[in-house]
Amino acid sequence: MKHLIIVAILVAVVTAAVTVLLESIQLLPVAASAQAAPIDTLFGLHFKVIAFLFSLIIVFVVYSLVVFRRKPGDTADGKHIEGHTGIEILWTIGPLITVLYFSYLGAQALAETRRVDPQALEVKVVGQQWQWRFEYPQANVTSTTLNLPKDRQVLLKLTSTDVIHSFWVPEFRVKQDAVPGDKMVKELRITPTRLGEYKVRCAEMCGIQHAYMESPVVVMAANEFDEWLKKESESIPTDPVARGQRWAQQFGCLACHSLDGRVLVGPSWKGIYGKQEAIADGTSVTVNDAYIIESIKEPNKKITKGFQPNLMPATLGAQLTDDQIKDIIEYIKTIK
Ligand code: CUA
Repeated sequence: MKHLIIVAILVAVVTAAVTVLLESIQLLPVAASAQAAPIDTLFGLHFKVIAFLFSLIIVFVVYSLVVFRRKPGDTADGKHIEGHTGIEILWTIGPLITVLYFSYLGAQALAETRRVDPQALEVKVVGQQWQWRFEYPQANVTSTTLNLPKDRQVLLKLTSTDVIHSFWVPEFRVKQDAVPGDKMVKELRITPTRLGEYKVRCAEMCGIQHAYMESPVVVMAANEFDEWLKKESESIPTDPVARGQRWAQQFGCLACHSLDGRVLVGPSWKGIYGKQEAIADGTSVTVNDAYIIESIKEPNKKITKGFQPNLMPATLGAQLTDDQIKDIIEYIKTIK
């Protein structure tokens, strides 16, 4: 009994010490969203349980090693101990209750991170090998930086043009996959609570450049954000050709279609408008508005001879508005 009391005191002391240590070494990045609070509370509780279990094992082992060492000359067997029903019930019921309690807390925290604010600002997030694009549909603005107003909930609607990506800003804590397919839009709610610059990372292995799929995130004051959105919205050119060029850059067209005749993943846009193009099935087609629209919406329908199918993102047709496609066609017409 004396030993048990000493061990119990030691376990309590070591638990407290390990908890303080775990909390002081800053295992988590700074918390920058309202959704981080319930998650960090859960982490805090886990740290305490981890500290207790660590102490329970280490104190028993070390205490036994020191206090119950074999004395010199002692060659007798140790005392034979049969099971102990009381302790067995205790170490079954104890963890069971702890785990059930944690699942209850976890469900509560999950509900809290998903609480809906009807005033939330909607932002479309598109993952694409290997970059992020952010669209603000209220202002018709597209950006490669995720600008967010402080203290307002933002509803992110995530999609992907190719493979599965995962949107993750560690300071916001929450994480969500971006999945390809029009009907697979995933939602994530974030309420930034701290001004500053962060980074979106991709948390799903998505190809060779996965590790570099990062974009800046800027949390700014609400009035600053409104100003930025207004400025971006006003900077959209009135000339359809200039607009088309802008969309071609923002939607990644130029990564695969050159402007100078070089053959990349897809046919070059140089002099392509009005050209007779040979199709893989042996027929040919005139590159006009109808053919370009079809090629954006159903890229695999008529593949140009010498090129591979399934490389042009099939979801682009749904992402671009008809007006944006018209602008891009106007732009293509000028590349001679
Ligand atoms: Cu996108 Cu990893």
